[in-house]
Amino acid sequence: MPVITNIYDLKRIYKRRVPKMFYDYCESGSWTEQTFRENVTDYDQIRLRQRVAVDMTGRSTASQMIGQDVSMPVALAPVGSTGMQHADGEILAAKAAEAFGVPFTLSTMSVCSIEDVAENTTKPFWFQLYAMKDKDYIKRVIQRAKDAKCSALVVTLDLQILGQRHKDIHNGLSIPIRPTMGNIANLATKWRWIAGMAQTKRHQFGNIVGHIDGISDMSSLSTWAAESFDPKLNWDDVKEIKKMWGGPLILKGILDAEDAKMALQVGADAIIVSNHGGRQLDGALSSIKALPAILDAVGDKVEVHIDGGIRSGQDVLKAVAMGAKGTYIGRAFIYGLGAMGQQGVTSALEVIKKELDTTMALCGETQATELGRHNLLIPEGFEGRWQG
Ligand code: GLV
Repeated sequence: MPVITNIYDLKRIYKRRVPKMFYDYCESGSWTEQTFRENVTDYDQIRLRQRVAVDMTGRSTASQMIGQDVSMPVALAPVGSTGMQHADGEILAAKAAEAFGVPFTLSTMSVCSIEDVAENTTKPFWFQLYAMKDKDYIKRVIQRAKDAKCSALVVTLDLQILGQRHKDIHNGLSIPIRPTMGNIANLATKWRWIAGMAQTKRHQFGNIVGHIDGISDMSSLSTWAAESFDPKLNWDDVKEIKKMWGGPLILKGILDAEDAKMALQVGADAIIVSNHGGRQLDGALSSIKALPAILDAVGDKVEVHIDGGIRSGQDVLKAVAMGAKGTYIGRAFIYGLGAMGQQGVTSALEVIKKELDTTMALCGETQATELGRHNLLIPEGFEGRWQG
């Protein structure tokens, strides 16, 4: 077993083991990737307040997200095509999350279907919904999520059209893979990945194939998003989805205080401050810089979560101390999954928990639920001073 000390140890193995096309899909942002980069680097600007001679015993990272107990305030984010990063990837990640006591969020664009994940887990998971033009599909997929006993619906609001990611176009990203000279040469070096894929039937978008009509090209996410996602999605549609679902609703992709207020008005139980991992509007603020203004606007009325750029337990601590009730990791768990399957996801969660726990202790805190701005040194002007 390789020694894993931090998330980047997993990333190095991930890069070796997974076809370049899927590594690049994960490891990219749109256009110049400014927002993708700043999601990570902006965490570095926040420093931690060290406290000493505080009793550090009896520490707990446990908390709650939307009223559900979590062993640390970290959920697995919905990541499209996770089952291409590793055979049966969504099932394996869901199992790791379940054992660890954190929520797993299944993407609409997953390879393993809602039913596949439900059959292979014992605790409820969360389901992420993209609003499609086909209203009947929305109704049916919400019903499928209910039948699978999903305990929250996460509706993504920032991807009605796809931000361009240059690498995916250059790689001819498609699911399943279309063999081209370039990717055959690369695949030849990925025997472990191929062996895994040879042992599973799950090679397509499991929530879509066989469940939606009139799609002419399933294989390209960009073509598919252009054909199927509803570019007209508006707040009334969100209200309609809330009514159809009737359970805990989380709205993902909020980056602006005005949108946060709208989310509150339509009755969201939580919002996720997110720029889709820097994959949509390049040039948008990093999530951690967007967080304070949103907390000021709605933080006392709705649970505020955050994703984007979290690669360590220290990042989790910074987000939570700033006021987020929960955080999500996407790439950080995908690195683990691609590196070592379920064990790799567990390893990513362990790394983050240990970093969170040790950092809490050195900040003089024993309970994750007690973290606050008093733990942070936030530079003046951190959010930026913008005109307009
Ligand atoms: C889909 O959600 C993507 O960001 O690729």
